Amino acid sequence: MIAPLSAAVRDRPPPTIAEHVIEVVGLTKRYGRTVIHEHLDFDVRRGEIVAVVGGSGSGKTTLVRQILGLERQTSGTIRVFGQDTASIDAHTARLMRSRMGMLFQQGALFSSLSVFDNIAQPLRELGRVPRALLRDIVMLKLEMVGLPCKHASKMPAALSGGMVKRVGIARALALEPELLFLDEPTAGLDPQSSEEFVELIATLHRALGLTVVMVTHDLDTMTSLSTRVAVIADRKVLVAASVEEAAGVDHPFIREFFLGRRGRRALQALPPERRAKLPPAALASASSEVSL
Ligand SMILES: Nc1ncnc2c1ncn2[C@@H]1O[C@H](COP(=O)(O)OP(=O)(O)OP(=O)(O)O)[C@@H](O)[C@H]1O
Ligand SMILES: [Mg+2]
Repeated sequence: MIAPLSAAVRDRPPPTIAEHVIEVVGLTKRYGRTVIHEHLDFDVRRGEIVAVVGGSGSGKTTLVRQILGLERQTSGTIRVFGQDTASIDAHTARLMRSRMGMLFQQGALFSSLSVFDNIAQPLRELGRVPRALLRDIVMLKLEMVGLPCKHASKMPAALSGGMVKRVGIARALALEPELLFLDEPTAGLDPQSSEEFVELIATLHRALGLTVVMVTHDLDTMTSLSTRVAVIADRKVLVAASVEEAAGVDHPFIREFFLGRRGRRALQALPPERRAKLPPAALASASSEVSL
């Protein structure tokens, strides 16, 4: 269960931030005449949890899909694990994909497959895994995300939103990736489930030494989990820095997102030494206004 796992890693230091695992340089992406990204730069180092934020339609999912190789860039370079994704052969691309896990924004699970078969699917795709081993791996992943084995035979429709996300994570972890992508992992969850989810990701980050790229609209998730936040606006990454540094950048999206009432409330929950680095506008009262 997750409780013993989270207790076991609580005192462990977070993974050391090391070499680059993602380097995106001068990325441009167009759909027809619509420019989504223009000369965008983005990088992630091993051990980081990078939150990607930006308005709806700003190209967050599209950026992740290009890094995963599910979508081809118009121009620019994307290096993952030091390799240029545009110049690798199919075999290397498959190997690279097996080092990355993804929780998609939509359709986290196949609705026609049981929990067991959803988690087993990436392993089955990989080739022949002996039945007993497959069972052990699936049960281990379920346990890792804090779900009792009895849920293995359930269909996705019989699960709560929080459980669907957990099973999605278990599936994303099936091949033991080094790099985990989460696209809006707490969207649609109630505050309690969101908090549990944040705890789960923090635990897995420590326990597995994962590197995480997490697209999110959720300010609390962003402030409590991320080591850095990358803000997408005006078709590029406007700033990629600590939450407190990003909050000080003068830009309409940042003012609206970080310095609105909800943003201020999330920022003011930072530990004191980080709160001290916030811009003054972030420290204005977050409780007096009635509007959301
Ligand atoms: N396959 C596609 N063909 C054409 N346009 C697309 C395609 N995929 C995405 N787009 C467009 O690209 C833009 C960015 O989409 P994307 O899904 O990356 O946004 P997002 O930042 O993830 O938004 P949200 O926060 O709503 O999930 C949108 O205008 C979208 O309509
Ligand atoms: Mg999206």
